[in-house]
Amino acid sequence: MRRIRTTPRMRDLVAETKIDPSKLIMPVFVDENLKNMAPINSMPGIYTYPLETVGKYLESLESKGIRNILLFGVPAHKDAMGSSSYDPNGGVQKTIKIAKENTSLTVMTDLCLCEYTDHGHCGIVEKSIINNDRTLDVYDRIAISYAESGSDVIAPSGMMDGQVGSIRRALDQSGFNGTSILAYSAKYSSNLFGPFREAVKSAPGFGDRKTYQMDWRNSREAMREIELDIKEGADMIMVKPAIFYLDIISEARKRFDLPLAAYSVSGEYSMIKKAILEGYMNENIILEGMTSVFRAGSDMLITYFAEWFMENVEQ
Ligand code: PBG
Ligand code: ZN
Repeated sequence: MRRIRTTPRMRDLVAETKIDPSKLIMPVFVDENLKNMAPINSMPGIYTYPLETVGKYLESLESKGIRNILLFGVPAHKDAMGSSSYDPNGGVQKTIKIAKENTSLTVMTDLCLCEYTDHGHCGIVEKSIINNDRTLDVYDRIAISYAESGSDVIAPSGMMDGQVGSIRRALDQSGFNGTSILAYSAKYSSNLFGPFREAVKSAPGFGDRKTYQMDWRNSREAMREIELDIKEGADMIMVKPAIFYLDIISEARKRFDLPLAAYSVSGEYSMIKKAILEGYMNENIILEGMTSVFRAGSDMLITYFAEWFMENVEQ
């Protein structure tokens, strides 16, 4: 076996996996409450941006070779219904327009309510229960407003039943049959989302997300989730988180032919980044982690390391 490991060139020659920048998606946070870019404490090196400077940031990402972004917003106003989420002049809607006017980035937009509700849940709450179908009505409105603003891809992440079908119908009926859906299909109720919730101030005010996000003990159930999303009209499917869920990615790759994305989430970033900053591991751990997701069979990777990759890895 060692004959094919003799030199870097030989190892490159036989390498089975290569990270392609066109397959990377960089998450971007825009916060209506900010005047200046603000660091996210638990994610060293990652910032949230105000509307005033997010355009400049997007241009800088593009100049580094980033092709795709996934947008998240923090509104100035939160309420029980998350009504800022479908405001045509909301932060995300404005950022989509800025991105489409000033860059050629593919703009993907996370669609959820937890950033917009005062209780921090991903749906409409009634008597302390998340009402699935009333939530879908709001998701439809958000999807249309993102599509109207020019988003290329809508990515519903709330894990309500029927969300993909509902949004697909709403988009089609409003003339947006060309807007695609990246479904957060197998999204687990993960402890790895902690740092993200600091970034967008979306921790649930009561209870947890276990009545809608998946139980991490299950894998066959993930296949049912994906199958349903495909039936409902998903164009692309996703497994999230990534590195603790490589078995799910691998199984999804075997079973389904749709483009498959994996989301290496905030907690994955924080653990790796902090260990590097402490000197416990070197930066190559980033590449090892990123590669593992593609080796498992994912076609695309959403990662907070996308910008680092473009800055540090020779293409
Ligand atoms: C919104 C959403 C979350 C993430 C993506 N979309 C948070 C959550 O479900 O609590 C997590 C992203 C990350 O941790 O990087 N529902
Ligand atoms: Zn949510």
